[in-house]
Amino acid sequence: MTTTSGIDGAQEHYGMGVDVGGSGIKGAIVNLKTGEFVGDRIKIATPQPATPEAVASTVAEIVRLHEWDGPVGVTLPSVIQHQIAKSAANIDPSWIDTDVHELFEQHLPERSVTVLNDADAAGLAEVAFGNERARNGSVIFLTFGTGIGSAFLVNGHLFPNTEIGHLIVNRKEAEHVASSAVKQREDLSFKKWAKRVDKVLHEYARLFNPECFVVGGGISRKSDKWVPLLTVDTPVVVATLRNRAGIVGAAMAANEHLAP
Ligand code: BGC
Repeated sequence: MTTTSGIDGAQEHYGMGVDVGGSGIKGAIVNLKTGEFVGDRIKIATPQPATPEAVASTVAEIVRLHEWDGPVGVTLPSVIQHQIAKSAANIDPSWIDTDVHELFEQHLPERSVTVLNDADAAGLAEVAFGNERARNGSVIFLTFGTGIGSAFLVNGHLFPNTEIGHLIVNRKEAEHVASSAVKQREDLSFKKWAKRVDKVLHEYARLFNPECFVVGGGISRKSDKWVPLLTVDTPVVVATLRNRAGIVGAAMAANEHLAP
C-alpha cells in the first residue's frame, strides 16, 4: 500500500481521521503511537446544505488527496448507534436514520470506515494523548464550538453518545446560550460568556457529579481568558489536543474498531 510521503497505510501505527464540522471538513494521517499528524492536514469547506451525499463525497476527496488507502475514521456531530446517524443538530436533518456505514462504503469502496460522534472522538484522543486528568476517574469532556459536545469518561472508558449540550439550563438548551458560536454571534465578552458557561457547568455538576471537567474546542486556546472566571467547585482543566482531537480520535476509532 502506498500513500502520501511514502507512508505505508499497512503499518499499524498509522491511521486516517476526518472530522466533519459545521464549517470545515478536516482530515489528516495520524501516527497512532504519538497522536501527531503525519504530513499536512487538509481542510475543505463543509458543503451547504451538508447532506449525507455532499459530505461523504468531500470526505472521500480528502482521503484521495492524502493518497490514503487504509481504514478511515470519520466524526459527525450526531448520535451514532450501530453506524446509523440518529440525530442532526448542527448538520442537515437528512442525516437522521442514514446508514453511515453504507453511505461511506459507496464513496470509499473496499475499505473499512468507522463513524463516531465528534465529541466522543475528541474525548478518546484526549484520553490517549492529552491532559492526563482525562484518564482518571469520572470525567466530563466538553467541546465548545458550533454546539457543545460531550464525552463521558470513566477511567478513560467512554460512555458514548451523551448529548448534554442539549440539556435545558434556565429554560434554554445549553448550547443555545453557551457554545462558542453563540459567543461570536452575540459578540459576547469572555466575562459574559464565561458566566453562561459557568451556569451550564454548575448544572452538569449538580446532575452528574464528575470528578473533573476537561474543556476543549477552538476556544480552549484562549482558556486563560475564561476558565479562571468559572466558579464551579469541580476542577476544570483544559484539553491539550485542541483542533487535532477530532481527527486523532477518528483515526484511533478506525484502527481499534471502536464503532459505536
Ligand atoms: C450535537 C452533538 C455534537 C456537538 C458538537 C451538538 O449539537 O448534537 O452530537 O457532538 O454538537 O459538535
